[in-house]
Amino acid sequence: MPSQLEVEDISVAFGGHRALDGVTLRAERGHVTGLIGPNGAGKSTLFDVISGLRKPSTGTVCLDGHDVTRAGPARRARHGLARTFQRLELFGRLSVRDNLLVAAELGPERRHAGRVADEIIDRLDLAHLADTTADALSTGIGRLVEVARALAVRPNLILLDEPAAGQDAQETELFAALLRALAEDGTAVLLVEHDMELVMNVCDEVYVLDLGRIIASGPPDVIRRDESVLAAYLGQS
Ligand SMILES: Nc1ncnc2c1ncn2[C@@H]1O[C@H](COP(=O)(O)OP(=O)(O)OP(=O)(O)O)[C@@H](O)[C@H]1O
Ligand SMILES: [Mg+2]
Repeated sequence: MPSQLEVEDISVAFGGHRALDGVTLRAERGHVTGLIGPNGAGKSTLFDVISGLRKPSTGTVCLDGHDVTRAGPARRARHGLARTFQRLELFGRLSVRDNLLVAAELGPERRHAGRVADEIIDRLDLAHLADTTADALSTGIGRLVEVARALAVRPNLILLDEPAAGQDAQETELFAALLRALAEDGTAVLLVEHDMELVMNVCDEVYVLDLGRIIASGPPDVIRRDESVLAAYLGQS
């Protein structure tokens, strides 16, 4: 069976600068896969390539065995891909519920969008905030609502770009449980995150990106002790 996500030999250059240089990775259903690396390593750029917002100069992206390298974001979404953004991208003037409705109306259960929105609001314990406008949320809750919105399209693969940034310790703990539950439901989760404790606690495997290249991959307890990984992080100012 193909992996939900197979990224092969992806390169992206911005002018003369190679932001990604031959990146290969996989994300499996039922797993939380971590993607870590210092600032500027290329993590968000890789998410843009996977979601179809940026064309790579080399390489392929396959979703569930389908080559979508030349497909736009909409077709990738139909293959079950959803993502969140490093910068919050909620509709600020819409309520939490309406943010979810807008997404659910794009998903496979669009005819029951209201039911989908309410089910996710319940699952993520957001009922008390359903009518609050997104503008009025704390950053931590805003991030959770972004994940909720991504879930409203019923993804098989969800890309999360620093979802715990701005969450407090208690929010992060609940969030870790949510990520595990999503994986157990059969979703493939690809997580970019600087909170190492969260990454090491929830991920089944971790890829380390540094200066556009994967320098290590493996289970968290191996990555934690990898010399090249420690060096990449120590090299950061
Ligand atoms: N639109 C762009 N034009 C030019 N250079 C860019 C552009 N987007 C990103 N870069 C550069 O590409 C490299 C990778 O950036 P990217 O945002 O993917 O890193 P990142 O790993 O997500 O970093 P962070 O942890 O800070 O979010 C950086 O050197 C960045 O300055
Ligand atoms: Mg980034």
